[in-house]
Formats: sequence, C-alpha cells, structure tokens
Amino acid sequence: MASAWWNLLGAAARGASAVTRGVTGAALAAAHNWPSRGARMGLLGPWDPPPSPSAVQAGLWDYRGVARPQDIASAPLDLPLGRLIDPKAWRAERAFGLPAGVANQHTCVLGPTRSGKTASIVAPWIHAALRQGQSVLAVDVKGRDDLLGEVKRHSAQVGVLGVPVIKWDYNDPARSASWNWIAQLDGDSQINAAVEAVCGRVSPSDPNKFFHQSAIKYLRGLLLLAPAVPGGLDLGRILRLLDDQTALESLVTGHRSHPGAQRLIELTGLSRGEFIKHTMELRTHLETLDTQGFLSVTQRDQFSFDVLHAERPVLVIVSAPVADGALGDAASSLFLGQFLQRALTGFGPVGRPVLLVLDEAARVQNRIDLGSTLSLVAGVGVSSLLATQDVSQFQAERRDEIMANCGNLICLPRVSKASTDFLAGRLGEMAFPTVSSSASASWGPMGQSWTRSEQRGPVLGHREIASPHPALGPWPGVVHCPALSSRPILVDLTRPDLAR
Ligand SMILES: Nc1ncnc2c1ncn2[C@@H]1O[C@H](COP(=O)(O)OP(=O)(O)OP(=O)(O)O)[C@@H](O)[C@H]1O
Ligand SMILES: [Mg+2]
Repeated sequence: MASAWWNLLGAAARGASAVTRGVTGAALAAAHNWPSRGARMGLLGPWDPPPSPSAVQAGLWDYRGVARPQDIASAPLDLPLGRLIDPKAWRAERAFGLPAGVANQHTCVLGPTRSGKTASIVAPWIHAALRQGQSVLAVDVKGRDDLLGEVKRHSAQVGVLGVPVIKWDYNDPARSASWNWIAQLDGDSQINAAVEAVCGRVSPSDPNKFFHQSAIKYLRGLLLLAPAVPGGLDLGRILRLLDDQTALESLVTGHRSHPGAQRLIELTGLSRGEFIKHTMELRTHLETLDTQGFLSVTQRDQFSFDVLHAERPVLVIVSAPVADGALGDAASSLFLGQFLQRALTGFGPVGRPVLLVLDEAARVQNRIDLGSTLSLVAGVGVSSLLATQDVSQFQAERRDEIMANCGNLICLPRVSKASTDFLAGRLGEMAFPTVSSSASASWGPMGQSWTRSEQRGPVLGHREIASPHPALGPWPGVVHCPALSSRPILVDLTRPDLAR
C-alpha cells in the first residue's frame, strides 16, 4: 500500500493528468488513512511515503532515517544490545550486539539517571566480555557492591561464570584488595599519571595556575624520590614531611643530586610562612585521600595489574562512589590512570583483552587525559565503555577529543537536547521525499495537485531519540555504530528478568 502511494506520487510529479487525478485521491486517502501499520500508530519508518503536511503537524514520530535490517552489516553479537527493532513491523525479534572488534573502537552511552545505563548495557557487557575471556576493570560509582550486584543479577539469568572478582574499595577495607600505588610506580609516565590523578590536570584558564603547577612539581619530586627513601614513602609520610619543614629539608639536601630532590630544592631555606604557602595546595590534594579507608587499602603491596592478564579472566571493581566527591574522583582516577599507563607500556607477553567500564566518565576528565589515552589503548586490546548522563558533562575543550575517540554512541530515552544534538550532528542529514499540494485548475475543474520533491533534514530528531514512540517498547535505545551501519539502529533493550 505504502509503495503504491509512493509510486503514484512519483507519477503525479511527472504530471500525467489521468493518473494524477487518481494520485490526488490516493494521496488524500493516504493522508487521512495511514498506509502502514506504523503510520497508523503515528510513526514513520524508512519504507513509509512522505507524510502529508497535516500529518506532520499532527506530530508523528519520524524514523524514516533509521537503519533497515538490510542496512546493518551482519557481525558476531559479542557485546549484547538487546534486540533489533524492525522499523516496518515495529517489532523487536532478532538479537543485536556489537562484535568485539567494533567495541574496541570504544563506546559511549548517554542516558540520564534511571534510564538503564547499568541494567541495559553496563552489566550485560561486563558479563559478555568475561564470558568471552576478556578481563574487565569497572568503576562502581554507587558503592556498597551495587555494580557487582547488577552483574550477578544479570548472570543469574544468562549463566553464572565463576570468574574471580577483585574489588578495591576504600569504604570496605576488610574485603578490599590492598594496592600500594606508590611502591608500584615505575617510570616517568606512571608518576605523571599518578600526579595528575591526585592534583588534577593543569587548566590554562586557572587563575591559580602557579600554585597548581608547583603542587604537581613537588608531588612528582616526592614520588621520584620515594624509592631512595629508607622504608619508602606512603601518603601518611608525605603529609608529615609537608608539615615538618626541617625533615623535608634534610631529605632533600641528603639526596641533592637526585632528580626528585631537585624538584623540591626550592622548598629549602624558605621562611615558615613561605613554606606553608608553597606547599598548601599539594597538602590540600593529598588530604582528600587521607582517610583511614584509603590508607588501609594502599598499605600492602597485594594487588598488581598483572592479574588482568593472568591465565583466567578476572573482574576488577574499583568502588568509588560519586557521593564521596573528590575522594572518589581522585581514587578512581589514580587506579584507572595507572591501569591505562601499564596498558600502554605493555603488561608483558600475555596480552588478554580488557574491557574498561567507566560509568560517570566525566568525573575523571580533569584527572586523566581520556581523549588521547583512549585513542592509544585501543591498539593494545583495551575496549572502553563510557557512560555519562549528558554529553555536556564533558567540558567543551575536552569533549571533542573524548567523543571523537568513541566510535560507537548509544542514546537512551530522556537524554538532553545537547546529547541529541550531538548524536544528530554525527548522523548528519539526508534527503527525504516530501509532498506538497496546491490548488490548481489545470485539469479542468478546480482541484488539488500534488508535487513530490526532496528536502534535506536531520536523519533523526530530538523527539525521536529522547521521547521515543511507545511502539519502540519500554526500554528503547538508538545506537550509532558506523562500522555496522551509517544509519542509526533502533534497539529494544528490555530485559525480561527486570521487566516482569
Ligand atoms: N533494559 C531494562 N529492562 C527492564 N528494566 C530496566 C532496564 N533497564 C533499566 N531497568 C529498570 O530501571 C532501573 C534503573 O536502571 P539503571 O540503574 O540501569 O539506570 P542508570 O541509567 O544506570 O541510572 P543511574 O544513572 O542512576 O545509575 C533498573 O533498576 C531496572 O529496574
Ligand atoms: Mg547506573
């Protein structure tokens, strides 16, 4: 029916008068009695003819730009994304997912709170990656084993894996692995990553840049010097040195030619007031981490990143609740930053792929150079799954680089206009057929003539992404995965175990 309307409209444009009268009737009928099942429900798919102006005004959902099944390259469904919605029958039947090689181009999920980022995507991907033999490093942004609980709930439905779980949780030291981050630092890049995680990256617009840069320099000096200090340095000892000018001066003068001491030399011979002023910023950053829990999970040298590449895949969960503020931000950045540096320099001969799951990804943007690191780690087998509520949570100057390194983008319902604009920008525009009518007396009595033309417009609009038509199910998503289709892919992410 739809294609008949389409063809007839084509004929109308060519101006064949006998046919045209029929066309006019057909078009009018179609404008009032929608030709396809979807159109009757108020949504248009790629097979539907152009809507009449009155139908557009009535507010239908326009999904004419989405991928049809034949537009999607077939590939293994390694990382699940629910089921494909067929934009003709508007039913979701075939399972859908991304192949591991495509997920290695990194993926960003945009969705506000309670939109299903964790239940629909994060937990199923963690399970699937482990089942395929990848290790997983994930950040739990809620704490109290929330993420592990979600993964276990999903596993109970699709198959328990029996994979070892290691958690690093400063809120639960008794059940946490201990990681002596200072003792494990090896080389400039690891030290620099640790310093940026603790002090934050320098922003050119920061009016207090001088003190920030000084804090970075002094922490770098102390961490470089740590192996040379009898008994080593830990966070508590560093804080005591920053309180005890005499002890710091004797440490520095005792190692005068050491590159670490040279970064601290300007702190010697200062008046007490100047010393406090110069060390204040570093002390503030370190005090963020100076909690009993953090000290206790960084005391012993028990956890090593090599475990991610051991004989069996492993799930490592870093518990760093957003509610903990700067402590959670700094601790998770420290752990992730060290992981990424080690991944870049190679873990050794056994290279096991790793899925890095970073919920609330924007919280680390000022402490980890996510943009450039993501581009580099893909080549060493690290695939990232970033989740954030809104694309504008990434600062304007960092957003482009971070998002440019996410080959795949998934938008969940209720995303902001900024997020849908971002997706729409990626999708671009396409030519859609339109019909317009005009009063005409060219075929005898006064009548209406219908003209078919093409109009360029966004592939998908804000409403179609943020407030999808109910026919798409209760948990729909829009997937942009250029490796599989240039058009956006509609998926139904409903988990029957949760929907019951
Ligand atoms: N795919 C799904 N199928 C059925 N129910 C779902 C699905 N996704 C989410 N839900 C329901 O919605 C709730 C909230 O989802 P979820 O915790 O994944 O949201 P979120 O986007 O991660 O939110 P937050 O930003 O607060 O972490 C789930 O506990 C579950 O009850
Ligand atoms: Mg969540």
